Amino acid sequence: MINRCLCCVAPGGDSEPEAAPSRRRRDPSRRGSKNKNRSVEFPWEMYTLKELLQATNNFNESNKLGEGGFGTVYWGRTSKGVEIAVKRLKAMTAKAEMEFAIEVEILGRVRHKNLLSLRGFYAGGDERLIVYDYMPNHSLLTHLHPHRGTPASQQHPPLDWPRRLAIALGAAQGLAYLHHEASPHIIHRDIKASNVLLDADLVPKVADFGFAKLIPEGVSHLTTRVKGTLGYLAPEYAMWGKVSESCDVYSFGVLLLELVSARRPLEKLPGGVKREIVQWAGPLVERRKWDRLADPRLTGRFDAVQLRAVVETAMLCSQSSAEGRPTMAEVVEMLRFGGERRNREIVPVADAASQDTTVTMDREDDVTGSSEPLDRGRSWKLTTLR
Ligand SMILES: Nc1ncnc2c1ncn2[C@@H]1O[C@H](COP(=O)(O)OP(=O)(O)OP(=O)(O)O)[C@@H](O)[C@H]1O
Ligand SMILES: [Mg+2]
Repeated sequence: MINRCLCCVAPGGDSEPEAAPSRRRRDPSRRGSKNKNRSVEFPWEMYTLKELLQATNNFNESNKLGEGGFGTVYWGRTSKGVEIAVKRLKAMTAKAEMEFAIEVEILGRVRHKNLLSLRGFYAGGDERLIVYDYMPNHSLLTHLHPHRGTPASQQHPPLDWPRRLAIALGAAQGLAYLHHEASPHIIHRDIKASNVLLDADLVPKVADFGFAKLIPEGVSHLTTRVKGTLGYLAPEYAMWGKVSESCDVYSFGVLLLELVSARRPLEKLPGGVKREIVQWAGPLVERRKWDRLADPRLTGRFDAVQLRAVVETAMLCSQSSAEGRPTMAEVVEMLRFGGERRNREIVPVADAASQDTTVTMDREDDVTGSSEPLDRGRSWKLTTLR
């Protein structure tokens, strides 16, 4: 599938592909729906290098939006006046070539209001460029952690509580779509704040499917090399490279805690010890200190019942025992009815096996951060109040 995709991308090997304004594709995610046999027109564009060089002013430094593990992202404006973001992949190693092929293949399949879809691409010579819609409100990271490393042009006022709730729900819906509705199902594998982008109306779009793996039907998990970002990695993934949807659920739990508290997923304490956000939140949850979990920049303006429901959802997602984590479909329901869930609460599970697990990570090329021993928190379950 990937080879076929690359052939489509660069039919002439190193030569520049002909400009093709759009391509007709069948939308596989609609299988089983009312539109069973309908072909869907997807506005994929195959850009020319000249066009993208012009749009980004020759990948000018001042157009740079940010840099990630696989390339640099530039803002641009096409000759038609459309704002775009162009991800220029670093070196074209075989691995990066594979990432490009995966991203193009997956993004081409997936359409959902909370997923950042591909606008087009260019492949030729050593250049692999992916074109997305430009998201004027940048990533969630720039909103939650505006002071460290965020360029002045990407500084934003604090998100208010209703907006945070809407972002949590939207991102959960995007991820639930990947897990439950995309065909075949997709595991993201790099859910984090910089991969949740915000459009002009602050609607969240989950981005970067470069790490994703397509899961064949009937396969519950895949074992693979560890990729992702420290602080967000589920223990079974960090330790054994065991990938399943619930690894994304774990990362999403970390993201929820980050959204509520605006704390970093991995903090360096005095003395150099690193603490995960889950380890910070656990004791506060046990002592029911909900207010202390809230971002100080909210200045107390939040719905306490909703905040508690979001934190409880986060703790269920980010527990060390994968079996105890909810599915993303369940997470969507928990967040949708977050404000009304007054008759349920989470309680710690007294299971020695799931507590105080110490994980030592092997440093891998693909993992950003250091290899510290990590004390994992306890497990939780949702109970009905009497
Ligand atoms: N479509 C877009 N619109 C606006 N800004 C974007 C867009 N895509 C990416 N960015 C910005 O560019 C930055 C770099 O993105 P990139 O995906 O390369 O790195 P990352 O998300 O930090 O890490 P990773 O490589 O693990 O995904 C992001 O943090 C985001 O702020
Ligand atoms: Mg990214």
